[in-house]
Amino acid sequence: MGSGKSTLAQALAAKLGTSAFDLDALIERAAGTTVESIFRERGEAGFRELERETLHAELERHTQGVFALGGGTVTDQALRRELLAGGTLVTLSADVSELARRVGEGKGRPLLAGHDVEARLEALLAQRADAYAECHARIQTGGRALDAIADEVIAVARDQALVVPLGTRSYRVEIGAGVRARLPLRAGKRSRVVLVSDELVAPLFGDALAEAMRAAGTPVETVVLGPGEAHKNIASVERIWEAALSAEIDRGGLLIGVGGGVVGDLTGFAAATLLRGVAVGHVPTTLLAMVDSAIGGKTGFDTRHGKNLVGAFHQPSFVLCDVETLATLPDAERRAGLGEVVKAAFIDGEAAVQRLERDAAALRAGDAEATVRAIRMAAALKARVVTEDEREAGLRAVLNLGHTLGHAIEAAQGYTGLRHGEAVALGMVAAFGLSARLGIGTAEQQARLVRLLDALGLPTNVGAYMRPEVLSFIASDKKRMADSVTFVLPAEPGRIVLRPLAIAELPALLQHQ
Ligand SMILES: NC(=O)c1ccc[n+]([C@@H]2O[C@H](COP(=O)([O-])OP(=O)(O)OC[C@H]3O[C@@H](n4cnc5c(N)ncnc54)[C@H](O)[C@@H]3O)[C@@H](O)[C@H]2O)c1
Repeated sequence: MGSGKSTLAQALAAKLGTSAFDLDALIERAAGTTVESIFRERGEAGFRELERETLHAELERHTQGVFALGGGTVTDQALRRELLAGGTLVTLSADVSELARRVGEGKGRPLLAGHDVEARLEALLAQRADAYAECHARIQTGGRALDAIADEVIAVARDQALVVPLGTRSYRVEIGAGVRARLPLRAGKRSRVVLVSDELVAPLFGDALAEAMRAAGTPVETVVLGPGEAHKNIASVERIWEAALSAEIDRGGLLIGVGGGVVGDLTGFAAATLLRGVAVGHVPTTLLAMVDSAIGGKTGFDTRHGKNLVGAFHQPSFVLCDVETLATLPDAERRAGLGEVVKAAFIDGEAAVQRLERDAAALRAGDAEATVRAIRMAAALKARVVTEDEREAGLRAVLNLGHTLGHAIEAAQGYTGLRHGEAVALGMVAAFGLSARLGIGTAEQQARLVRLLDALGLPTNVGAYMRPEVLSFIASDKKRMADSVTFVLPAEPGRIVLRPLAIAELPALLQHQ
């Protein structure tokens, strides 16, 4: 209320050559009466229902336009998330005293009537903090020219960032060429920043990013870890802790991970545990990290007992996926990332699989546009699943498609010779085979997956890897319950089934893969 959204919508529509719609005005027109009297007659719940129906009807009619929503419209979580996924959602903010001045005594605004306006606005903002934080951008309007605000909104819309909506812990995943240059801006004003990368990534990107932060006036310490999974251990975490504590980091500090999934998981874990939690931002530089590990807040490291056995959930504050950084990535690492992209497409649905089938040759050749499209699809899927099941209580398990067998194949190979994404590709082929055998999926779906993986240069000859040790590693899987292991089995693109299978049955089921 009083944020100036109707005026801004008009200005935006004029600049964009499209139409502006004011939701309250549309509702009044449809109902033939004022918002105030709808509130009086139907109560707030009745009004919200009408609001939802009217907005849906308008969105059906217009594929584009600028909508000024009522301040309460986005308090409906399902509607808000629909708007976030289908368009650009911007929250306008201003100081409460400024808002109070703009709304006057609150005449015609049923939620303010009869209250001390400033106190009531304050209470509403606190009540709606989670809803208003789930947006593509929060834009300050106080003391700014309309034109400048409109330009900022247009820039946000053109950027097409993804939002991981988690209330006040929401964050954006920005994907594109050159987005790493935004790091100083996204880091904001910080007392202390520690930038972590590894020996391969530091000279390529980490050092230059640290310099850019310093040039912007932020004191930055750097930590350069040994590269690869072999360094994903407590010793690396200690090096980050040590650098941060020596720099006297406080709760307002920030850790930044610039690198692949190993750097990201270690930096995230150090951030989760330092002072019981400081902010972390990710600049993923491998395809796998962009589509998977940088999003979702899982952090951790390996011990001699296995991979990722110690960890914590800690969501980042921002993620910058700069596809330019992929230019230096070895081909085998890129291919491994594509394994996770294929997984995401089969979880997402038919349209995503078809798009990937069309883009396969371009992706294999490293085409930038096809790569951005693939990252966007996979990152959006991950963001959606994480939002619905942040702590892996249920749905998030679908992301393990191909992983139970993939991990076992990796372990049976002694973690050499196969990259994780390649093992996941093999694991998916086996999972599709299991599905077909159990009547959940079909042999045609498995053949389709194999064609796609082939086109992307990923391994598919799962039979060659099905050594007896694979079964013993499955039996020791951490997702095991008593005598069975839960498998993530694909029925068809977009339909995944979780099915516990008795360990005793597995040898027969996994034969002839
Ligand atoms: N947190 C999660 O949700 C999650 C999800 C999936 C995987 N992971 C973890 O991610 C890790 C795998 O990540 P990864 O595949 O990115 O491996 P990685 O971090 O080891 O990177 C692979 C190699 O590429 C190098 N590298 C990185 N960026 C480069 C670039 N732009 N140019 C040249 N070289 C570059 C690295 O130095 C490393 O040697 C595993 O430890 C896995 O457990 C975590």
